[in-house]
Amino acid sequence: MKINITTLDNSLAKELLIPITEADTARVFFQDLVTQFGLNKVAIEDIGGKYKEVVTCYPTHNVVRKIHFIGLGKEQSFLKIREAVRSFSFKNKKKLSTSLGLVATFLDNKTLEAIINGLELSTYDIALYQEKQEGNAHPLTQTTLEVVVKNPTDETTITAINKGIATGATQKEVMNLINQPAGHMYPQTLADWAFDSGKEHNYEVTILDKSDIQKEGLNALLAVNRGSELPPKFIIAEHKPEGYENFPTVGLVGKGVTYDTGGLNIKVNGMHYMKSDMGGAAMMLGAIELTAKLNLPVHLITIIPATDNRVDATAISPGDVIGSYSGKTIEVIDTDAEGRLILADGLNYMVKNYQPDVLIDAATLTGSSVRALGSHAAALFTNNQTLAKQLQKVGETTGERVWQLPLYDEFKAELKSDIADIANLGSRPTAGASTAAKFLEYFTENHASWAHIDMAGMAYGDSEYSSHKAGMGYGANLIVEYLMDLVKED
Ligand code: BES
Ligand code: ZN
Ligand code: ZN
Repeated sequence: MKINITTLDNSLAKELLIPITEADTARVFFQDLVTQFGLNKVAIEDIGGKYKEVVTCYPTHNVVRKIHFIGLGKEQSFLKIREAVRSFSFKNKKKLSTSLGLVATFLDNKTLEAIINGLELSTYDIALYQEKQEGNAHPLTQTTLEVVVKNPTDETTITAINKGIATGATQKEVMNLINQPAGHMYPQTLADWAFDSGKEHNYEVTILDKSDIQKEGLNALLAVNRGSELPPKFIIAEHKPEGYENFPTVGLVGKGVTYDTGGLNIKVNGMHYMKSDMGGAAMMLGAIELTAKLNLPVHLITIIPATDNRVDATAISPGDVIGSYSGKTIEVIDTDAEGRLILADGLNYMVKNYQPDVLIDAATLTGSSVRALGSHAAALFTNNQTLAKQLQKVGETTGERVWQLPLYDEFKAELKSDIADIANLGSRPTAGASTAAKFLEYFTENHASWAHIDMAGMAYGDSEYSSHKAGMGYGANLIVEYLMDLVKED
């Protein structure tokens, strides 16, 4: 989406979008607009600003032909504002003209960012494998949107607009990675995406292939990969802006299971959803792409262990004992608990090779977290309450929520193995998200500031933008806003 920042007097747009809250309808600027565009007083009375309510007016103005007032409701939540505008723009893509303007003269910068973010997201096209139809493209992909502001040279306004677009574009990439099925999105194509993104946005990407992975001894990743025809990849991305030596180092690890059949403990339900099992990888790759675009003053590393989890004569058998990068042995009680195996290697590699100040992993790890929180929040586990508070706070402000669940020591006892150092499954059919988190903690070498985000219910879900479950774009903005907070405080 291309943008031209301008003033009302200089705007040539024939069709205007005016997002408006319930409170705004009573304000002076609103009356100004009425006079400015010569709007019909009766029509104006219908504009209540109710959430997602759209009132279209046809003014008697020499340039502007149509104005859509888009209701933002009472709530000032970033996500809800974004979704109100995205929903309107998505549903009306066939009706909207190519001469579009957005009136933002009275919006605060965060609201403006949310609106721009929503417009950018509304151009996402999920029909990846359908022939492109003439006239089906969103007008915002063909034209320049005029953003009407009070002061077009104001830096904070420009920053907010840029952040909204940059975030939306990366979120579309995150959705695209998740929406591509197993035959299109596998370790090599995920690695290719990271490599290309690194080139485009100026961050370093190193791909370890199978022989490097063997040399490094990433044995848990190799074990999960044993049932696959396709070699694993270990993706290392690094954002090293000038002066990075003096910036905080943050390590991100994302689960990159490009398809999860369950292995020999094969899944009986919803296996087709498991193309989304690299949702953690997409989130953490999105986070580094966006961080690089915004050139945040942070030393950021993203590590993605990538493989699919399949069935073959060579696949791990339930009950087998495997090795790991840490040197610890793992009894694999259930081959469907594969995410924690590859994350064990990713986390341990990160801690030992990069010593990050903060360590965060994200994974579509357990059905248990989905049963607990649905698609309203990701489950957060951490040994550091300061980090918990920071992530919870940005979770609320971005609308990409996290909700803390416990990491009690008692869960560790459930992971006891008699023959290996640890088992990959808890001994009870309860608290599955917590025992999984406890398993991961074992491989963090007692890192003092580690957080695990189980986003199994957030990566992929239902929305008005698709008729089946699809990628939601969750998480990249959460991490980036966390990083922005972190460097602000520093
Ligand atoms: N990828 C799944 C978790 C998952 C479930 C993701 C639902 C998205 C939606 C994970 O690898 C898995 O299979 N977990 C098992 C763990 C069990 C075997 C301990 C689960 O949650 O059932
Ligand atoms: Zn699984
Ligand atoms: Zn999985």
